[in-house]
Amino acid sequence: MSPDAPLAGVKVVIDAGPTYEDIDPVRFLGNRSSGKMGFAIAEAAAAAGAAVTLIAGPVALATPTGIARRVDVRSALQMRAAVLEAVDAADIFIATAAVADWRVAGYSPRKIKKGPGGAPVLELIENPDILAEVAARDPRPFVVGFAAETDHVHEHAQAKLVRKKLDMLAANHVDERVGIGADDNELELIWPGGSETLPRAPKRELARALVARIAAHYHARTPA
Ligand code: C5P
Repeated sequence: MSPDAPLAGVKVVIDAGPTYEDIDPVRFLGNRSSGKMGFAIAEAAAAAGAAVTLIAGPVALATPTGIARRVDVRSALQMRAAVLEAVDAADIFIATAAVADWRVAGYSPRKIKKGPGGAPVLELIENPDILAEVAARDPRPFVVGFAAETDHVHEHAQAKLVRKKLDMLAANHVDERVGIGADDNELELIWPGGSETLPRAPKRELARALVARIAAHYHARTPA
């Protein structure tokens, strides 16, 4: 393994950004993910020599330098299909996307009109968990998840690592300063048997540190 290119010859699939769940042709349910962290990780992985497939939800971000393939999607179901199509050939899957937990049960092909009947009641159904689905595959890539938590970061992250059967999980504390949509971030990295804090830094810097850790753990599990 070259120290300059620790992911040379390694195929990495990364999902990033939010998903939008359409209600009707003009309305959707979304979230505040900017995609910046995922795009920074994609750039750092490419710089480390990886062949990167970046699956992006609706974001306003240019494709980073060195990305082999970018697939743009909108909804969680589209993201799932794109990930499952790409992940069979992947050595590492990094799920940074803020996939919407729910989608609207009945999409209305016509704009829902305001009327005397009052506000519509939206029925929501759960979206598939893309990360857990990839982790349940056999054979499977080295699987890295993300978790945005507002409290009890370590406990929730630890539970998620075990529940979703992940190789690594990067957890961040979401508040006004760091986390979703912000330029800086701090991460607690956990894996079965250990943890490490990557201190607050601009997302691109943090992404390089994270990719170095992922490469080291991936090679420790999968000797070349
Ligand atoms: O359970 P929670 O949504 O906090 O887990 C976050 C992790 O799971 C992230 O890595 C996210 O990309 C992934 N996830 C997913 N599909 C979902 C929900 C979350 O891949 N439907």
